[in-house]
Amino acid sequence: MPNLKLNYDTSGVSDKEIMKYKDKVTKIHKKIHEKAEDEKDFLGWLELPTNYDKKEFERIKKAATRIKKTSDVFVIIGIGGSYLGARAVIEALTNTFFNSVSRRIRKAPQIIYAGNNINPNYIHDILDFIQDKDISINVISKSGTTTEPAIAFRIFRELLETKYKPEEVRKRIYVTTDAHHGALKNLADTEGYETFVIPDNVGGRYSVLTAVGLLPIAVAGIDIDKLMDGARAAQEKYSDSNLKYNECYKYAVIRNILYKYYKNTEILVNYEPKLHYFSEWWKQLFGESEGKELKGIFPAGVDFTTDLHSMGQYIQEGRRNLFETVINIENSKNDIKIKADEDNIDGLNFLAGKTMDYINKKAMEGTIEAHVSGDVPNIVLNMEKLDAENMGSIIYFFEKACAVSGMILDVDPFNQPGVEAYKNNMFRLLGKPGYDK
Ligand code: PA5
Repeated sequence: MPNLKLNYDTSGVSDKEIMKYKDKVTKIHKKIHEKAEDEKDFLGWLELPTNYDKKEFERIKKAATRIKKTSDVFVIIGIGGSYLGARAVIEALTNTFFNSVSRRIRKAPQIIYAGNNINPNYIHDILDFIQDKDISINVISKSGTTTEPAIAFRIFRELLETKYKPEEVRKRIYVTTDAHHGALKNLADTEGYETFVIPDNVGGRYSVLTAVGLLPIAVAGIDIDKLMDGARAAQEKYSDSNLKYNECYKYAVIRNILYKYYKNTEILVNYEPKLHYFSEWWKQLFGESEGKELKGIFPAGVDFTTDLHSMGQYIQEGRRNLFETVINIENSKNDIKIKADEDNIDGLNFLAGKTMDYINKKAMEGTIEAHVSGDVPNIVLNMEKLDAENMGSIIYFFEKACAVSGMILDVDPFNQPGVEAYKNNMFRLLGKPGYDK
């Protein structure tokens, strides 16, 4: 069973300070748990690991098997919460060179992400890449009207229609959207595409454990039962209303305490490049949930040791408004021993017999020590290993911590009113009817 462990010894925050939030956190706990099943509140994700549509879950697995059989490439069309979670899990748990390794190693179609920008070169290059390949598409949009995925879907649907007969096109398009409303739902019903549902009470960035994430993740060959098992274990583990025994709530409190000490930028740190997109998912989760009403911690991400040679200088000696949260994967799946070299021209023989994971861990320990001594508090989240169960757990951990943290900050962690500003201007500039003022 997955077992995340929070270590805040290097955060500079004491248990005494944390426990001052006890009553506040108990109130928030009660509030969110009482409303978890309410259709009007965006709290459906809270009990999702135990309370999900089992029939749809089986349908997702069947669709994934079909897609794997019939497709060389699987195109995932979505933006923000409608793709980052899937990409985070897929990249964490598959070969770093997933699309380049042979099908025998990959055991799944190649995976391409589209509809997450409006750049013509990006689409052009995808079209080059998928030329002459059999493709299936999963278009994911809760509103069904988001411009970026809608444009991409038009293009890829047209491609499919030129490539396959109508009956075959129908079998290659999978739609994940609202149960009842929206342009995408209407189109799917009219055309007879297989659809999956984003529950009303689950917002985009909290939706990775719904069909939004589960179908792409299953197509990539990842065991979604294990992912849900891990999330379920976390749901149980972090259900204690008592702050003293709930590390998820402690993390939410510690970051709010640091924020009060003017530490208003949090950097999520990993020493595993496969977690790059997990940081992207985490950035969106916290950024969109907390950054409002002129408040909120700015979420950033770095991949170490790579970024120690780019961002390391700033973190060590730049403005002192930073703190870091380090994800430490305790046991690496693979390891490589450094051999002794007779000539030792590179002077590396002091590492002979040691493994790369050992060296990586020493780099982590040394960096934490350096950054803490440079007044950058560090929180460490220890994860036993990188597998589906642990990914399910860490996703749940951060989702719940994010909601509670936002409520401590006294903002609504489930809305994103600020995202409309750019859309309104863009639509006005593009002459969309109704946006002429
Ligand atoms: O978290 C959110 O709500 C957003 O990031 C959305 O997921 C994103 O804007 C995409 O929206 P939609 O799924 O409606 O296309």
